Amino acid sequence: MKVLAFAATNSKQSINGQLVNYVASQFGEHQVEIIDLSHYEMPIFSIDREIENGIPQLALDFAQKIDESDLLLISFAEHNGTYTTAFKNIFDWISRIPNRTAFGDKNIFAMATSPGPRGGMGVLEAAVNRLPFNGGKIVGSYSLPSFGDNFSSEKGVSHPEKNEELQSKISEIKQIMNEVVIA
Ligand SMILES: Cc1cc2nc3c(=O)[nH]c(=O)nc-3n(C[C@H](O)[C@H](O)[C@H](O)COP(=O)(O)O)c2cc1C
Repeated sequence: MKVLAFAATNSKQSINGQLVNYVASQFGEHQVEIIDLSHYEMPIFSIDREIENGIPQLALDFAQKIDESDLLLISFAEHNGTYTTAFKNIFDWISRIPNRTAFGDKNIFAMATSPGPRGGMGVLEAAVNRLPFNGGKIVGSYSLPSFGDNFSSEKGVSHPEKNEELQSKISEIKQIMNEVVIA
């Protein structure tokens, strides 16, 4: 199985990057690719730009990465209650590519973390509610609150119950993906 993982942010010090890397490391028996959204920065989507210049090559490249994968691991950073501009811009551009859905009818494990106690629940809910309308099949979701207290670079998720919850979701997803591959 091919796994594509990314944090939905363009921050170099991303805490969602740390979370998604930790989760991706648990799919070591599969082919995992981790990508950085800062390599997909394009002009801000506008219908006028699309009409004038078409869809940027970087959007087509990003969509190809999705199309080549079986499972997406995405950890969403929350800016003002919703997606970061970096993610939303890519989302808007890839949603304009003809003859495909933005998320390519792929399975998605949607995650979020933030320094605060809500753990990015606003953006996570937005993604879980919206991505199915753009061809994303949500196979699990997970929020890690208060990242600074509950994650360490050595241990990963250090809060025992939150780590147990994560491990159980990862096992469920592996089971679902196993059934998808067998079917
Ligand atoms: C413009 C901006 C808006 C933010 N809005 C929120 C917010 O609504 N909720 C929240 O929990 N954190 C918010 N934060 C804090 C982010 O959660 C924090 O910067 C986090 O590190 C972002 O994730 P990242 O490191 O993966 O990019 C905001 C940060 C910025 C810079």
